[in-house]
Amino acid sequence: MNKVYIKHSVVPKIRRFTPWIYANEIDSSLEEFQSGEVVALFSKKDGFLGTAYVNPKCAIFARILSFGKEEIGKKFFHNRIKNAIKKREALLKTTNSVRLIHSEADFLPGLIVDKYGESLAIQINTAGMEVFRELILSTLKHLLNPSWIVEKSDVNSREIEGLESHNGTLFGTPVQGFELSENEHTFLVDIEDAQKTGFYLDQRRNRALCASYIKENDRVLDLCCNAGGFGIYALKAGAKECVFVDVSESAIEQTKANLERNELSSESLHVKDVFTFLKEQKYKSSFDMVIIDPPSFAKTKEQAVGAKRGFKHLLMESTKAVKDGGLIGFFSCSHHVGRKELLDIAMEVSHDVKVQYVLLEQMQQDADHPCLINASASFYLNGLLLRVEK
Ligand SMILES: C[S@@+](CC[C@H](N)C(=O)[O-])C[C@H]1O[C@@H](n2cnc3c(N)ncnc32)[C@H](O)[C@@H]1O
Repeated sequence: MNKVYIKHSVVPKIRRFTPWIYANEIDSSLEEFQSGEVVALFSKKDGFLGTAYVNPKCAIFARILSFGKEEIGKKFFHNRIKNAIKKREALLKTTNSVRLIHSEADFLPGLIVDKYGESLAIQINTAGMEVFRELILSTLKHLLNPSWIVEKSDVNSREIEGLESHNGTLFGTPVQGFELSENEHTFLVDIEDAQKTGFYLDQRRNRALCASYIKENDRVLDLCCNAGGFGIYALKAGAKECVFVDVSESAIEQTKANLERNELSSESLHVKDVFTFLKEQKYKSSFDMVIIDPPSFAKTKEQAVGAKRGFKHLLMESTKAVKDGGLIGFFSCSHHVGRKELLDIAMEVSHDVKVQYVLLEQMQQDADHPCLINASASFYLNGLLLRVEK
């Protein structure tokens, strides 16, 4: 195994279990290494520090697989995947679908695996994980005996890693119209064609929390609704009406199917850009709850400024649409716009629109998407539940 020497100043960061090492933190010549190669990390002064895979094409040069001297082979993947499955056992009592492996936060950087019943949807996002593709698949089959494994590795990060998109069935028989059940709600998921790996599993806990604030006959506005998750929870909790908005036609089709499946209905489903919708809308102080759950506007640090403007606009318009005393669920799924930034934005809107916000809840991704505190990107979903005092 080749050795990579890192700068002495980086050692404390590794001692704190930070799993990423940037290209400018290396004391070796990057060209010596192959994409995806497993290396031993050393500091000239402190000796061995861990085992990582590297990619000289990327700003994140090395991702640490182990802080010990472990062989990265069958036993390593078996133990890591088995541990990840074990941590989800409690959650699987309330749903048939969970994230089983959440990359760095399950100590398998670059690997995502979601379980939908007996099916698995996987994403391999780095050249380093790509090397272990066959081993990962055989371990998943051995531990979970899935009926179908589908790959959904079409994320931008693969391009940065010098990899092509990879989609489609890897094993078994495709499932169409999968019935996802969570907290006694049922959603129909088209795993292969839907966004992400199929469903926004990360919002499970927040859907339930927001619905717990719903009162009989409330009116709800679900912005960027995807398959209708928040709105459907709200209707089942007693809301009289929900208006659904998403720019994606298939998301609204999915919402319609999910309303039907849950024996609910809505007269108001809009395939529309949320900014256009809010500009055109005639709802002034009409809703008891508005959910703002847009896509990740900021995939990079540089995009965060523009993203914050977008968030501010959405909060401003939603504040006008909500009643005095009404609630707003305000979410960001980009770690570049985190909890502090959402609070700062709320403070600015409070000034501009002359309302006060009371912070009722601070929300984050559900427990099957663990947050590793030294890998800030693993802590990507933040939300505020605000009561608007006009
Ligand atoms: C994070 S997901 C919402 C997840 C959803 N709340 C749930 O609980 O499943 C973001 C959604 O925003 C939609 N979207 C993206 N850009 C949009 C836009 N400009 N206007 C409206 N919807 C948009 C996407 O189609 C996607 O369904």
